[in-house]
Amino acid sequence: MTATRAIRVLGLGGSLRNGSQSERALRLALDGAAEAGAATGAVTGERLVLPFYDAGTDERAHAAQDLVEAVRRADGVIVVSPGYHGSVSGLVKNALDYVEDLRDDVRPYLHGRAVGVIAVAHGWQAAVTTLNQMRTIAHALRGWPTPLGGAVNTAEVKFDDAGAASEEKVGTTLRLIGRQVAEFALAQAAAGFTGGT
Ligand SMILES: Cc1cc2nc3c(=O)[nH]c(=O)nc-3n(C[C@H](O)[C@H](O)[C@H](O)COP(=O)(O)O)c2cc1C
Repeated sequence: MTATRAIRVLGLGGSLRNGSQSERALRLALDGAAEAGAATGAVTGERLVLPFYDAGTDERAHAAQDLVEAVRRADGVIVVSPGYHGSVSGLVKNALDYVEDLRDDVRPYLHGRAVGVIAVAHGWQAAVTTLNQMRTIAHALRGWPTPLGGAVNTAEVKFDDAGAASEEKVGTTLRLIGRQVAEFALAQAAAGFTGGT
């Protein structure tokens, strides 16, 4: 990472559903990262439809190669999952499994990167349990989960077609998570730690 380029924050997650609430939550968090000065990108929707991660082969679908490359180049990551049966959805978890392909990098896995963690479910129980799992996954991948996590209960808050949250407080929280990811990356850069290419 040098001062000559903007830091990059990659958003990953959501569901395949039209009007995915978790993807809209992700967009708000990415807005926060952009407000803090990051260049943002996202892998969502159909781009998350990848073959099941196979540790027994190096052959990867193009979409999977794109995902791995995007994570490799990211200085920070925001992951948003819907809560499915109290847990991270298979779609999001399979995408995260591909981070295994960064194991031999100079910055292995999510080393040195903040990971914004947000769970969106139709009730508090699944929102909280899913958020906890996402922190655990971020730790396992050697990332730094944001101090502020997002547990969004869609029984109480909705994201409209324009992406706005029906409760201002929720939008503020999601933006702050994105900001924390960007600020961590900026701090790493200021300290002279090398980032992605
Ligand atoms: C397969 C499946 C399992 C779900 N399991 C739960 C659950 O255990 N608890 C809960 O509160 N909501 C559950 N939900 C609801 C979703 O978490 C909720 O609708 C979320 O907003 C969906 O995100 P999306 O709009 O991005 O698709 C489930 C939904 C699906 C489709």
